[in-house]
Amino acid sequence: VPLCPFTFVLHGAAGDLAKRKIIPALGHLAATGYFSSDSVLVFAQREALSASECLAEVDAFLARAGDDSARQAIAALKPYFKTVQLSLGGPTAKADLAAALQGCPPLVVHYAALPSSRFTDLLDCLDECRDPERLRLVLEKPLGFNASESAVIEKAVEAKLDESQVYRIDHYLGKQAVQNLLALRLGNRIFEPLLTREHVAHVQITVAEDLGVEDRAGFYEQAGALRDMVQSHMLQLLATVAMEPPVSLEANSLRDEKLKVLRSLRVPKVSSPAEIVVGQYAEGYVRGQPVPAYRHEKGVAEDSNTETYVSFCTEVQTWRWAGVPFLLRTGKRMPKRFAEIVIQFRDVPKPLFEPVGGMWSGNKLIIQLQPDDKLELQLLAKTPGERERLRPVSLDLDFFNTWRIPVRDAYERLLTDILRGRLGLFLRRDEVQAQWHFVDQIMGNLHQLGVSPAPYTSGTFGPPAATAMALRAGAFWSEDG
Ligand code: BG6
Repeated sequence: VPLCPFTFVLHGAAGDLAKRKIIPALGHLAATGYFSSDSVLVFAQREALSASECLAEVDAFLARAGDDSARQAIAALKPYFKTVQLSLGGPTAKADLAAALQGCPPLVVHYAALPSSRFTDLLDCLDECRDPERLRLVLEKPLGFNASESAVIEKAVEAKLDESQVYRIDHYLGKQAVQNLLALRLGNRIFEPLLTREHVAHVQITVAEDLGVEDRAGFYEQAGALRDMVQSHMLQLLATVAMEPPVSLEANSLRDEKLKVLRSLRVPKVSSPAEIVVGQYAEGYVRGQPVPAYRHEKGVAEDSNTETYVSFCTEVQTWRWAGVPFLLRTGKRMPKRFAEIVIQFRDVPKPLFEPVGGMWSGNKLIIQLQPDDKLELQLLAKTPGERERLRPVSLDLDFFNTWRIPVRDAYERLLTDILRGRLGLFLRRDEVQAQWHFVDQIMGNLHQLGVSPAPYTSGTFGPPAATAMALRAGAFWSEDG
């Protein structure tokens, strides 16, 4: 169904995120007929660039990134878009923006693909308007670098808009696998009763990246893995696995349940035996190629103490989950890109078959987000022959091969939701606050004890201390991805 006519203003159109994700996603939507012919896309940036110069720049960027499908898709944007030179924070910004929007469709979406330090400058350009059919604001993560910075931004938002107009992005919620996770839990009878402390030994969530900091040192030096990944994607994945079934799929029902989880998280202990390990990549080899240490990357301080890896053990302190370790880890320059959630079930109360060997060799549910969207249920089956011997076997569901339609990029899904006015896959203000509260406490404790990140060789799964930490929680990291 094509979308109603809209005006979409992309702030930060010259930035990396816009070129890599947002503009290609808009291109794919335009190419598949989502946009009505009178919709307008306005790309706002500091430099004066014509529409064709702007497209040429995006095309050159995508060519360097080797993304041919995005290069083809952006050609579909031509009929819809124009550029505006906008110096946010400058004296003429508000008037320049108003002039660019003259005669455009009245539903205006402002997408802030900007560092959060610029969000208030953008808000200064907007008039107060509390009608979601006229004005919507999209805010990229992270919202500030701690709870108090985030509160300052939220105050500026609140002064002009209602909560129903604000789309706080966490692009992991746009991934097909996360929506499948909801379907798996809430559309099936068989898993939900087992997701409790009686049956689950532990839960692991991994988001591993093989990339390093790339060209983002300016941002990453300030952020680090805790603020960049844990505060958003990792905690949202955790909340989606651990939340109680909501009363409906309506946005606030989902958000209410996730919020309860976020508020019930135990802060990991920093002192010995630590429940958190921070690391920073040293030089090494990833996919057979030599890569430099983080401290030697462009724009990184030689004595940088920014963590590029973090793993920790927490607990969701609710009746359902009390006592079950939740192990989370994320890092850059790991051996490969993969993201998964592993739910490890307890062993049977009385083993009757020959021991299988190994810790927790029994039932496991693996929800893989990356590189493929897959679901795997590990069971034990008897091996052929006389012996009463069990071996792990898998029931696999590969979503791509099941549906045989290409999975849409997370940003495409999120953009359609923004344009249709659906808030369910976006964060509410109190969720972001709860996430900051958790991460701020961890950062504060690390700082107080003077913990600095342990080096790990690029191409490995982080500092060895992470293995010991998982073992103390009764788990092995699942490393096969
Ligand atoms: C972003 C982080 O939010 O997510 C990046 O800022 C990270 O540092 C990226 O690389 C990972 O996203 P994806 O979809 O590639 O797993």
